[in-house]
Amino acid sequence: MKSKPFVRGLTTKLKKKKGRKLSSTTWLSRQLNDPYVREAGVRGYKSRAAFKLIEMDDRFQFLRQGLRVVDLGAAPGGWTQVALERVGTNGKVISLDKQEEWDGVPGAVCIKMDFTFDSAIEELLKASNGTVDIVLSDMAASSTGHAKTDHLRIMGLAEHAWDFASQILSPKGVFICKVLQGGAEDTLLKEIKKSFVNVKHVKPPSSRKDSSEMYLFAEGFKKL
Ligand SMILES: C[S@@+](CC[C@H](N)C(=O)[O-])C[C@H]1O[C@@H](n2cnc3c(N)ncnc32)[C@H](O)[C@@H]1O
Repeated sequence: MKSKPFVRGLTTKLKKKKGRKLSSTTWLSRQLNDPYVREAGVRGYKSRAAFKLIEMDDRFQFLRQGLRVVDLGAAPGGWTQVALERVGTNGKVISLDKQEEWDGVPGAVCIKMDFTFDSAIEELLKASNGTVDIVLSDMAASSTGHAKTDHLRIMGLAEHAWDFASQILSPKGVFICKVLQGGAEDTLLKEIKKSFVNVKHVKPPSSRKDSSEMYLFAEGFKKL
């Protein structure tokens, strides 16, 4: 399924407000003028992140009708919505996030739990009742403002997601996870290359240019 292109709107200028910090003004102004944020609202997606998955799937076409997907770090739920649309009613989406206030996404099996807890993998295995075809991870630890620390924390989550994916993926399965550039991402890429037919780093157009975020994309799982 290919996505519709979308049109850029006019620039919104923020009025000065007493007491608002410069960092909040910069964030708000970026949100208001971000075409992906606007389009996510128009299409009813819970996050602009939805477009990252749309763009990766338009390029690699892995989300197909009837497939079973696990979405890690799913809140607020843009990726889950896209996965549900593309796997259809014969497919299944199991989504997990640690945010306690998360409402979940109708149509998906939603688990509120920290993925690093031992019980999380047990819950996911129970919900999937067997293997799954795709494991997605957009998990991101909240930023400390220290690039090296943020990189290592996200890489820790990515390695954990890979450890889980290697247990649950069906042969020819797909694994995608968020990584931050900083050194350790190449070690993970090399490790994962042993288990898939095709592995690469990708930066979808909607991923902000000034962010060191990218995604590890792996297809054709070679189950031993
Ligand atoms: C960038 S957001 C995901 C956005 C999501 N893909 C979407 O489309 O709406 C990252 C998410 O990872 C979650 N996260 C970070 N560490 C986690 C962990 N240890 N266990 C579960 N979720 C985690 C955060 O709570 C946050 O909601």
